[in-house]
Amino acid sequence: MRSDANIAGPMADPVPGPRSAESAGGPLSVPPGFGSDVSRETLPPMDDTPIGRAAQMAVEALNRTGEGLPRPAQTRVMVVANQKGGVGKTTTTVNLAASLALHGARVLVIDLDPQGNASTALGIDHHAEVPSIYDVLVESKPLSDVVLPVTDVEGLFCAPATIDLAGAEIELVSLVARESRLQRAIESYEQPLDYVLIDCPPSLGLLTVNALVAGAEVVIPIQCEYYALEGLGQLLKNVDLVRAHLNPKLHVSTILLTMYDGRTRLASQVAEEVRTHFGKEVLRTSIPRSVRISEAPSYGQTVLTYDPGSSGALSYLEAAREMALRGLPGGMAVEYDPQPQGEQHNEQHPHSMSEGIQ
Ligand SMILES: Nc1ncnc2c1ncn2[C@@H]1O[C@H](COP(=O)(O)OP(=O)(O)O)[C@@H](O)[C@H]1O
Ligand SMILES: [Mg+2]
Repeated sequence: MRSDANIAGPMADPVPGPRSAESAGGPLSVPPGFGSDVSRETLPPMDDTPIGRAAQMAVEALNRTGEGLPRPAQTRVMVVANQKGGVGKTTTTVNLAASLALHGARVLVIDLDPQGNASTALGIDHHAEVPSIYDVLVESKPLSDVVLPVTDVEGLFCAPATIDLAGAEIELVSLVARESRLQRAIESYEQPLDYVLIDCPPSLGLLTVNALVAGAEVVIPIQCEYYALEGLGQLLKNVDLVRAHLNPKLHVSTILLTMYDGRTRLASQVAEEVRTHFGKEVLRTSIPRSVRISEAPSYGQTVLTYDPGSSGALSYLEAAREMALRGLPGGMAVEYDPQPQGEQHNEQHPHSMSEGIQ
């Protein structure tokens, strides 16, 4: 595996997905910075209509990807984990990956969940016969044999998961170096990559351990719902154990609030609580609850291509931007300073990562 900062992934021209009621007329909670600096003189009169405004914002968002972001000096391997199901791991993996690729990075998504939801969302076939990450982990196939390019987003690749992977937790137990098989596969991957994003299953078994050994950064999506922090202590304990025994580089670099509904007091309470516990690891951008985000996978697309002007697409673009600009592993954290974000906070708390979390 190598990172080659000189090989810029050319900007993709995402295929515009079906226009949506949400982007056409619904209230768009657009992250500040998008669209706010558009000169009114440059807009044709049509942009005063809701559809025109949405189209303008989509173009604006995609133009912004052309600004380019700093590309990491070394490949950043990021493990998207939370042993709770349904918190937005897969959604976050594929949409952050697509956003980073649209920003010009070369990104590999490794689907490590036997459900294969990330593969589906990226439009990658993952029926039982497809060469998959199972073959890599259990049969020691090279990763390059199973990686496929994602149509529509240049620079984005996927190692799919098939249902075979469900048996891998057990099959791995008797194999040599069972915890580090994914790490070895990634290290032997020859193609230049800026980011590897690993979508974990909702458990803390050997598959997730393989991801934690392979990565340097843990990204934890937290759903802004009841019991958001429940079980996180277990994950953090696992991260500590893997760091102590198998992978000294491992750290929680990023917490992302997902399915944020600013209209509810619950969401803001959860957000507050998460920021109190985690402080600076929490991205300032949170992901709103968005119908477009949940619809995109059924079209085999990320929200970035399905509806690039939607609030969901814009927030994932902004979250990716924030991630790219700060917390580069082994390097200096680049201070990210977006425009103020309404109800989003930037409190830095001195609490330790696991304090108060069960
Ligand atoms: N921001 C969002 N707005 C609306 N629905 C979402 C959002 N994020 C995720 N979802 C939906 O929630 C469900 C669970 O998300 P998913 O990413 O599959 O979670 P996980 O991988 O943690 O199990 C999916 O149906 C997904 O489409
Ligand atoms: Mg998932």
